[in-house]
Formats: sequence, structure tokens, C-alpha cells
Amino acid sequence: MIVGVPKEIKNNENRVAVTPAGVTEFVKRGHTVYVQKSAGEGSGFADESYEKAGAILLDSIEEVYAKAEMIVKVKEPIEPEYKLIREGQLVFTYFHFASSEALTQAMIEQKGVCLAYETVEKADGSLPLLIPMSEVAGRMAVQEGAKYLEKPVGGRGILLGGVPGVMPANVLIIGGGVVGTQAAKMAAGLGANVTIMDVNLSRLRYLADIMPANVRTMMSNEYNIREAVKTADLVIGAVLIPGAKAPKLITRDMLKTMRPGAVVVDVAVDQGGCIETCTPTTHENPTFVIDGVLHYCVANMPGAVPYTSTLALTNATLPYALRLADLGWREACLRSNELKLGLNVVHGKVVYKAVAEAFNLPYVPVEEVL
Ligand SMILES: NC(=O)c1ccc[n+]([C@@H]2O[C@H](COP(=O)([O-])OP(=O)(O)OC[C@H]3O[C@@H](n4cnc5c(N)ncnc54)[C@H](O)[C@@H]3O)[C@@H](O)[C@H]2O)c1
Repeated sequence: MIVGVPKEIKNNENRVAVTPAGVTEFVKRGHTVYVQKSAGEGSGFADESYEKAGAILLDSIEEVYAKAEMIVKVKEPIEPEYKLIREGQLVFTYFHFASSEALTQAMIEQKGVCLAYETVEKADGSLPLLIPMSEVAGRMAVQEGAKYLEKPVGGRGILLGGVPGVMPANVLIIGGGVVGTQAAKMAAGLGANVTIMDVNLSRLRYLADIMPANVRTMMSNEYNIREAVKTADLVIGAVLIPGAKAPKLITRDMLKTMRPGAVVVDVAVDQGGCIETCTPTTHENPTFVIDGVLHYCVANMPGAVPYTSTLALTNATLPYALRLADLGWREACLRSNELKLGLNVVHGKVVYKAVAEAFNLPYVPVEEVL
């Protein structure tokens, strides 16, 4: 298989879809890998390390798309990339089709094979290519929270772990899934007083078993949240209701009862946020203040740590990408239901029901294109 790795052109996207280590694996199996020059630069991988691993460097994105049978990338194609995708070309990347009709229409017109990271799904319902980014965002949430609690940037000036003789900060985490668990581990490690809330009692039982003694669990409900925010220094929003907007669990009137200079990090902002006052921000301008509470609501948190994010993402994507290269997309999807669920738009047909429903487009069962 001829594999192409273009440089990401979306604003501020520094990740790359294949590392030099990944190139080695493709080449070992007899595949050819074309990498666009400087594609790995933002993540700290120099062109020379790709060449050493056996990749062939190309000057332009046009050449990469023109030569490759399979394009592996990170973000959804944006407008200048649409026309580069050829009929029958496999594109393996995050697409998030349901949030863009223009992208969906463009991929239908280009007649490529769009296999989306975000809908690759294991038998237990977990999404193996979304988990790594939640792990990064969960851990980062505490790091950012700790930073913005510092006085010079507007926080209340409290150290998360306290010091001997001084109480640590109170960290409230709403949602005990991937993001919430990683955040709790980080906050606990720094010595904070941590409370995790979730509506899933089995999940709370599990967390209570594995977490250290400075992490407590609590049922998530309006009463408990209303009480807990009054004494919280840092609140991390980490809820997810799959396929739905995040519920607004912290309302404006609750915010008014919080300590001045407290910080809220709403990781769930990409699903609308679980804090009523949250609106999406960017890494250039990550925070704003409402009622004396500092809000951090960056929708692509992993973008700030491209080295870690690239490695975390490629650790998860590479085994799938290798399978696609070894077998071709059709055979790989016939043999693996996980990969089959990743097919969204194939040869101009929408084969993922939720995407068809989102834009009232005809839905074709995936079996018909295999
Ligand atoms: N901002 C970013 O850069 C970024 C990065 C990665 C993930 N995310 C987002 O973070 C959110 C969490 O992702 P995840 O991977 O941890 O999801 P997850 O499915 O692993 O966990 C979500 C948890 O929320 C719980 N929950 C649902 N309703 C609740 C409620 N009312 N109160 C308390 N808990 C509730 C669920 O029981 C589950 O345990 C998602 O919206 C995801 O898209 C954002």
C-alpha cells in the first residue's frame, strides 16, 4: 500500500498522524510511506528522522495526496484539501461529520473512502481512538487549573497541594469517565482534596476502590453540586452523554456562590459544556471571568501539548492503520467490526446512520459498499 502523511493545515494544529516509529512499522511490512516535508515539526519530529525510518519526503501536500492510496492524518480535511481527495482514496482521520454539512457534502462529491477515528468502536462500546485525547485533556485540566489558580493570572492564589500546616485546595470533578479519572489522579497526586461526582453508581464504586484516600466519590445531583461548588477552588467539568449535548449542571446562580478567584475548567465544552456560563475559547485566549470565577473552556486542549498528543494518538491509531495497509480497507473492514464502524462516507454514499440523519441525506447500510 502507498501511504501518505500530509502536514496538517488547520489553524494551530501541530500534531502529525504518523511518527518515525510508525513509518518503521509500515516500511517493515513492505509499504511505501510518503511524508510531506516538515509534517512532524510541530510535534518535535524532524524530517531527517522520517527519512532514517524509511519514509520518502515530498515538498507539497498536492504530491502526497496525488501519490497515496491511503491518507493518514489527524484533523478533518478543510476546504483547500477537499479537491485533493481522489475517487476511491482511503482517508483515515478524525472527521466529526455530524458537525459539518459542508465537509459531508464535499466528501460525498469526492467519492473517497472516509474512515473516521471517532466512530471506530470496540464491542464493549468504547471508542479507542477518542480515549487518548480524553486522557490528555483530563491530565491537562488539573495542570491548567493549578496555573490559573495563581494570583498573577487572576486566580485566588491557592496552591493545589497546600503545604505542611496549610490545607490543600478543594478540587471538584463532575463526571468520572476517562477525563474525570485522569484529572482525579493528577489532582490527588498533587495533594489536593478531590471529590469526583458521577451518576453511575458502579463507576463510583470502581473509582472508590482504585483511587487514593484523598479522593472521595459522591453521587452527582443538583443538591450535591450546589453544596460542593461553594467550597471548591477548582471545578472540572468532565461529563458526557454520548450523542447528546452536555447537561448544564452548574447554573449561573450556583456560580455566584463560588469563592472569588475560583477556577472552572469545562473540558466538556466540545459538547456544549456542563457549566451554564461556558463558551468555547482558544489557546490564544483561553480564559474569561464571570462573577469573579475564572473560566477555562478550550475546545481542543490536547493541541497545546502536540508532542504528547501525537504519541498518544498514534499509539492508538497505528495498529488500525497497519491493518488497513496490509489488507486494504474492504478486507480489513470485513474482518473487523471495529474498523467497519469507522466507515462514514464511501464512494459518495453516507454509510453511517447518525451522519445521514444529521443532514437528512439518504442512508446506505455499510454492508452494501463492502
Ligand atoms: N476540551 C477538550 O479538548 C476535550 C478533549 C477530550 C475530550 N473532551 C470531552 O470531555 C468530555 C468527557 O469525555 P470522557 O472521554 O471522559 O467521556 P466518558 O464517557 O469516559 O465519561 C463521561 C462520564 O460522565 C458521566 N456523566 C454523565 N452524566 C453525568 C451527570 N449528570 N453528572 C455527572 N456525571 C455524569 C458518565 O457516567 C461518564 O462516567 C466529553 O465531552 C469529551 O468530548 C474534551
